[in-house]
Amino acid sequence: MPSPSVDPKIAIIGAGLSGLTLALALHQRGLTNITIYEGRNESLDIGGAIMLSPNALKVLDALDIYARLRPLGFEFESLDFRQSDNTPVDTFEFGSFIKYGYKALRVYRYEIIDILHELVREKEGITIEYGKKFARVISEERGVTWEFSDGSEASASFLVGADGIHSQVRKHIYPDLEPRFTGAIGVTAAVPTAQLNLPTNYSTPVTIMNREHGAFVISQQLRDGSECLIGKQRRFQTDLSKQGWVEMLENKDWCIDFLREGAENFPDLVKNAVSDIPKDKINLWPFYVVPKLDTWVSRGSRVVILGDAAHAIPPTAGQGVNQAFEDVYTFAGVVAALSKKGELHQTVLAEGLRNWQAGRQVRIDKVLELNGMIDKRRMPKAVSEGKEEEEIGEFELTWLYDVDLEQMVVQWAAPKVKSWNPCSLFR
Ligand SMILES: Cc1cc2nc3c(=O)[nH]c(=O)nc-3n(C[C@H](O)[C@H](O)[C@H](O)COP(=O)(O)OP(=O)(O)OC[C@H]3O[C@@H](n4cnc5c(N)ncnc54)[C@H](O)[C@@H]3O)c2cc1C
Ligand SMILES: *[C@@H]1O[C@H](CO)[C@@H](O)[C@H](O)[C@H]1NC(C)=O
Ligand SMILES: *[C@@H]1O[C@H](CO)[C@@H](O)[C@H](O)[C@H]1NC(C)=O
Ligand SMILES: *[C@@H]1O[C@H](CO)[C@@H](O)[C@H](O)[C@H]1NC(C)=O
Repeated sequence: MPSPSVDPKIAIIGAGLSGLTLALALHQRGLTNITIYEGRNESLDIGGAIMLSPNALKVLDALDIYARLRPLGFEFESLDFRQSDNTPVDTFEFGSFIKYGYKALRVYRYEIIDILHELVREKEGITIEYGKKFARVISEERGVTWEFSDGSEASASFLVGADGIHSQVRKHIYPDLEPRFTGAIGVTAAVPTAQLNLPTNYSTPVTIMNREHGAFVISQQLRDGSECLIGKQRRFQTDLSKQGWVEMLENKDWCIDFLREGAENFPDLVKNAVSDIPKDKINLWPFYVVPKLDTWVSRGSRVVILGDAAHAIPPTAGQGVNQAFEDVYTFAGVVAALSKKGELHQTVLAEGLRNWQAGRQVRIDKVLELNGMIDKRRMPKAVSEGKEEEEIGEFELTWLYDVDLEQMVVQWAAPKVKSWNPCSLFR
C-alpha cells in the first residue's frame, strides 16, 4: 500500500530570477512544498533592464508571467551593429513574432521580480525566508542538511543553489572554484530618448563599435521607448575585489567619465547621449564567467546548482538570464516527472538529473559557440585584410529561439533504471 504521501520539501537558495521562477515551475508541476532562502532582505535587483528572447518568453508564458510582464517592457525584434561612423554592419535577430511567436522584450529586472513575488504569494506552499544566508552543506545522507551564516540549520529532501555567479552552494561541489574575470567591463546609465535626437527610423538596440574606444550600446526601454539605456563596454585589465567593484560603482563621476571617454569618435547621437547623464541609474558590470563544469549535481544527488551559479556566460549573445529560465523550467519538469506519489526516488532522479545537466550543457556550449561567432564577425574588417569579404548572412537561430523544452523534459526524464526498489526510497 502506498503510504499517505508527504510532499517532499525542496529548498531553493536565492530568491533571484532563477530561484523565484524555479519555485513557480515546480509548483505548477505539483511539487508544492518549497522554501526559498534569500541571503538579503530582498531579492537582488542589479543592472537595470534585461532583454528576453523567445526561448525564455516561452517559459515565462507557460508560467503565466508573460501576460503580466509584456505591458511593462519595450518590444523589438533585432539588434543592429554599426561602425563608428554609423554605417550598418549587420543585424542580430533577438525575437520575431512571425517566426517564433514572440518579439523580444526589454524590461526592468525589478518588474520581473515584482511579478514573480506576486505569483509566489498566490501559491500555497511556497515560502520565502529572507536574511538567511546559506553557508555550507553539513550532510547529504538522508535528505540534505545545511547551515546558514547565522549558525542555524535546516534540512530538506533536495537543495537547489540558485544563488548566482558567486554561488556558495557551488562550493559544496567545487570547493576551490572561483569565477574568472574576462578582462572587460560595461558601464550603463539611462537617459531620456529625446536627448539622443535619434535619426528618423533609427532602430535600437544598436551597438556602435569603435576599435579604440570600445562598443557603445543604445537600447530603448519602457513600454513606449521613451527611455534609453546607454552603455559602453571595453577592455579593463585589472580584476578588482568585490569591494573594489562596489567602490567603482559608487564613484559615479568615474562611471560618467567612462561613458563619455572617446564620445567625439562616435556619431552625434552618442555625444547627445552622454551630454547629460543622471547619476541614479548608473550600473557597472564586470564580466565574469564560470568555467565549464563537469557536473551541476552533487555526488549524493541531493544538491543541484543552476542559473548563473552553474554557467555564468559572457553577455555577447544576451543569453545569460534567458538560459537560466531554460534551466529552471526543464529542471522542474524532470524532477516532477521522476517523483512519484510525493516521493523523490533517488536513483531514478540521479539519472534524470545527469541527463538534464548533459542536455543543458549542450545548449550552453552552443550559446558559447554563438558568442564566439558574433565576436568574430564584429572584428573590424581591417583585421581580415586581404581576404575576400566574408558573406554576411544571418545567423541561423531557430535552434535557440524555437526550442521545444517539453520535448527535452520527456527525453531527459525517460527512466532507464528499470526496477523501482521500494527499499531505496528515501525518507
Ligand atoms: C550590472 C549587471 C547587468 C546585467 N545585465 C544583464 C542583461 O542585460 N541580460 C542578461 O541576460 N544578463 C544580465 N546580467 C547577468 C544576469 O544578472 C544573470 O545572468 C542573472 O541575474 C542570473 O540569475 P540568477 O537568479 O541565477 O542569479 P542572481 O540574479 O545573481 O540571483 C541570486 C540570488 O541569490 C542570493 N544569494 C546569493 N548568495 C546567497 C547565499 N549564500 N544564501 C542565500 N541567498 C544568496 C542573491 O542575493 C540573489 O538574490 C547582468 C549582470 C549584472 C551584474
Ligand atoms: C513539507 O516538508 C516538511 C519537511 O519534510 C514536512 O514536515 C511537511 O509536512 C511537508 N509539508 C507538506 C504540506 O507536505
Ligand atoms: C535586514 O534587516 C534587518 C532588520 O531590519 C537588519 O538588522 C539587517 O542588517 C538587514 N540585513 C541586510 C543584509 O541588509
Ligand atoms: C520610416 O519607417 C516607416 C515605416 O516603416 C516608413 O513608412 C517611412 O517612410 C520611414 N521614413 C523614413 C524617413 O525613412
